[in-house]
Order: sequence, then structure tokens, then C-alpha cells
Amino acid sequence: MKNIYLPIPVALEQIIDESATIKTFRFSSNDGFRFKTGQFVELSLPGIGEAPFTPSSDPNISTRFEITIMNVGRVTQALHALKTPATLGVRGPYGLGYPLEEFKNKQILIVGGGVGLAPLRSLILALFARPADFKNIHLRFGARTPDDLIYKQEIKEWSKICDCVLTVDKADSDWKDNVGVVTTILDTDSIDLKNCVVIVCGPPIMMKFATFKLLELGFKDKQIYLSMEKNMSCGLGKCGHCRIGPFFVCREGPVFTFDKLKDLPEVWD
Ligand SMILES: Cc1cc2nc3c(=O)[nH]c(=O)nc-3n(C[C@H](O)[C@H](O)[C@H](O)COP(=O)(O)OP(=O)(O)OC[C@H]3O[C@@H](n4cnc5c(N)ncnc54)[C@H](O)[C@@H]3O)c2cc1C
Ligand code: FES
Repeated sequence: MKNIYLPIPVALEQIIDESATIKTFRFSSNDGFRFKTGQFVELSLPGIGEAPFTPSSDPNISTRFEITIMNVGRVTQALHALKTPATLGVRGPYGLGYPLEEFKNKQILIVGGGVGLAPLRSLILALFARPADFKNIHLRFGARTPDDLIYKQEIKEWSKICDCVLTVDKADSDWKDNVGVVTTILDTDSIDLKNCVVIVCGPPIMMKFATFKLLELGFKDKQIYLSMEKNMSCGLGKCGHCRIGPFFVCREGPVFTFDKLKDLPEVWD
């Protein structure tokens, strides 16, 4: 019988520094590992353990994939200490990912903070690959400081293609954009509120206040898509670790519209 918990080996090719605490890990995928944007994988480091991450690369590329990881604890610290080449394990992809078909013919507002830009990068690249399917794309990104903002070069390129506004909580002398938390750059001036979906990904506190601001601006619960990062173990809908109300985040998520979550007391935990 096939062991569903057995990871497949993947070759780590390159490690890219994004900020003092965040690195992007590029893996070659000769066996054609595929994922849909917004799905997650369990990445394992032999002898250390495994943790869930959402690939940050273009899901249309089958020869390699990337994961952007913030160093917060045991597994992520060991990952940050790696040198190339190395062999890691991957199982998945799991979850449903972003429902691109529901976004068709709509304006898309993407709100991100910190390492939350990782899954959003994959989403943005997937949207850019199908420009005829979506109306205007609006990006609103925040970081604590300019040094904490990841994908700087790519964001410059994206801002040539779509409306992009950046902010930092605390600026330095070179920073030319906005200063303030991400909710201060949310407005609807260039947005057709009725025909728009909003995708939010970032730390729980940022998602909470961004959601409240979006509701205040007139968005409906069903228009707001949130990426939930609950504790995971199996990733397969078996252990119950990721449960939030009636949902298993690993199976029915990790992306949910706010109408499904709004009455659950643990939504922002
Ligand atoms: C579906 C899903 C997708 C995810 N995608 C990504 C991703 O693309 N990139 C990424 O960097 N992380 C992502 N995460 C979070 C990532 O799984 C955790 O950061 C990781 O499991 C931490 O493992 P650890 O052993 O290093 O930390 P642990 O030793 O388990 O934790 C150490 C400490 O860090 C805290 N902590 C754990 N997670 C976070 C966090 N995200 N931010 C701040 N503090 C935290 C813990 O509460 C604990 O106090 C995702 C999580 C889920 C559920
Ligand atoms: S992680 Fe085990 S049920 Fe979701």
C-alpha cells in the first residue's frame, strides 16, 4: 500500500536572500511536481522535521518551484542554515488553492504583508499568465521597514503592468512611498466595488484589520478571500490539528471567503 506520508525527494538548487529573516528556496522538479496557486506543501528536512509552506513561484512552470520562508523556529531555522546543493522532501500539494475561475472577469485587489507576499507572488504570476481573463489588478503591499519588503525587483516590474501601492510602518531616508500600516493604503478610488474580489494574505493581525477596513469601504464578506495559516500536521484532513469551526483548513482551505469564517471565534487566533 502506498504511504501517503512519504515525501518525494527534491533537489535544492538555489537559495535567494529576500530580507534578514526571509529566503527563497528554489527546487528543481524533474519529476514534474505540480501545484495550483495557493495550495501548500509539507516540506521536510531529514532529521529535523517538516512544516507547511505555500509555493511562491509561477504554477505554470513545471521544471522548478520556489518556496519563500521566514525564519521563525526550529524547522525554518534549519532550512535557513542550509547550503546548496541539498536534498529535501516534499509531500502534497494539499488544499484547494485560489479559485481562479471565481475571479474571472473581475477586478482583483491583492493585499499583502510580510511573508504573506509569498503565496500572493504565485497568484500574481498565475493571473499575469492569463491577462484576458481578469480585469485590472491592484496590488497593496506593506512591510515593517523597507529592508523587510521582499521581491523588491519583481515588484518594480509588476508596477509597470498593474496599479501597485507600497507602504512601510517605519521608513528610512531612501523610502519614497507611503508610511503607515497597510490599511492606510486601502481605498476604492480606482476600483469598481461591485465587480471586485479582494485577496488578503499576511500576519493574522494584518488580515484582521485589513478585513475590517475592507468591510468599512463597502466590500461584502463573500468578496474577501483570506489565507488561513492554522497549525498543521498531516495536511490530509485526518489529524484535526488545523480545524477551525467546521472546517479542516488543510482540506477545505487554506483560502476561505470571510462569510465562511466571520462567526467563528477562533478566526483571528
Ligand atoms: C498553509 C500554510 C502555508 C504557509 N506558508 C508559508 C510560507 O509560504 N512561508 C512561510 O515562511 N511560512 C508559511 N507558513 C508558516 C510556516 O508553516 C511556519 O512558519 C512554520 O511551520 C514554522 O515552523 P518552525 O518549526 O520553524 O517554527 P516552530 O518552532 O514551530 O515555531 C516557533 C515559534 O514561531 C511561531 N510561529 C510559527 N509560525 C509563525 C509565523 N508564520 N509567523 C510568525 N511566527 C510564527 C510559533 O508560534 C512559535 O512561537 C505557512 C503555514 C501554513 C499553515
Ligand atoms: S492538518 Fe491534519 S487534518 Fe488538517
